[in-house]
Amino acid sequence: METQLLTAGEESIALAAELLKKGEAVGIPTETVYGLAADATSNEAVAKIFAAKGRPQDNPLIVHIENMADLAGVVEKVPVDCVKLAAAFWPGPLTIIMKRGSKVADSVCAGLSTVAVRMPSHPVAAAIIKKSGLPLAAPSANLSGLPSPTNARHTYRDMNGRIPLVVDGGECSVGVESTVITIAGETPTLLRPGYITKEQLEQVLGKPVALSDAILHKLKEGEVAASPGMKYKHYSPKANVILLNGDAAAYRTYVEAHAGEGVFAMCYDEEAKTLTTVPCVICGSKDDPAAQAHRLFTALRECDEKGAATVYAHCPATTGVFMAVYNRLIRAAAFEVVQL
Ligand code: TXA
Ligand code: MG
Repeated sequence: METQLLTAGEESIALAAELLKKGEAVGIPTETVYGLAADATSNEAVAKIFAAKGRPQDNPLIVHIENMADLAGVVEKVPVDCVKLAAAFWPGPLTIIMKRGSKVADSVCAGLSTVAVRMPSHPVAAAIIKKSGLPLAAPSANLSGLPSPTNARHTYRDMNGRIPLVVDGGECSVGVESTVITIAGETPTLLRPGYITKEQLEQVLGKPVALSDAILHKLKEGEVAASPGMKYKHYSPKANVILLNGDAAAYRTYVEAHAGEGVFAMCYDEEAKTLTTVPCVICGSKDDPAAQAHRLFTALRECDEKGAATVYAHCPATTGVFMAVYNRLIRAAAFEVVQL
């Protein structure tokens, strides 16, 4: 199949909506990462997402809506906590898990009684949902296991030949996938950290939000992930990524001592000029977690483009937005951390 890559505009948005109504999968921009969208009410359409990504069938998808009225039939009912969260964070990078409604295709929820819903703020995503008149299931538009795409070029590279269209809406502003919270159980629980932090969620809900174990730790053999996506190796470039936990001096000393063919440092912007014997890929300013989130997946893909075999990255903190960066990087590193 030939894949068109078109700049976002009235015509490409109309074409995307037409293709979605016909049951095709389309690459679309969102403020977090590019999504691979299809009609969330059709099992046949959703099957095209799983096929194009090579995604395991037991990993459920997020349903994207354009306004609150779109929740009808997507969820069983709209809980008060959803109304509070939506007022504060929608449209935006937050996904809310609730009891599922009858409209959603079974394959979207992968057999669960719940559904994940998000209202993206990217104007092109919103326009495509609105024009199609459909709730759109959309995972990140990467091949399963690779870093999520944060621009149209990365999306096209992964999806070329697999889908009819990628709409180019520019670089994603956030750069990591949405925060995922479930309000389907007794206690609201964070399942995936993102740009919206646990502290912000607690403030809006007026109660504590629990942290799913799988966010910061490796699941033990046989342990069930609350969010099925958390159990897979993820976000990995071809290179072997290793996290180094220590201060700036210890990081530099370790990296320079391990310099060699194919060895790269994924370092903070400020450090690039002090690391002279190892090629660097910059990953944002040291104290700016939003900049690091924004750079993360592009930096991982750059490592591959440059032919890196081993990549030494800093082990991030786990507070605030750093938690989102940590959660992705620790998976890219398959939980390999060297304590300095
Ligand atoms: O920012 C985002 O959320 C992007 C853009 C495209 O919107 N989408 C995205 O989708 O990251 P995906 O499929 O890559 O990640 C969805 C995550 C997975 O970890 C999945 O297991 C989890 O949400 N999830 C989806 N439905 C769920 C459910 N009913 N219960 C628990 N976890 C669920
Ligand atoms: Mg993904």
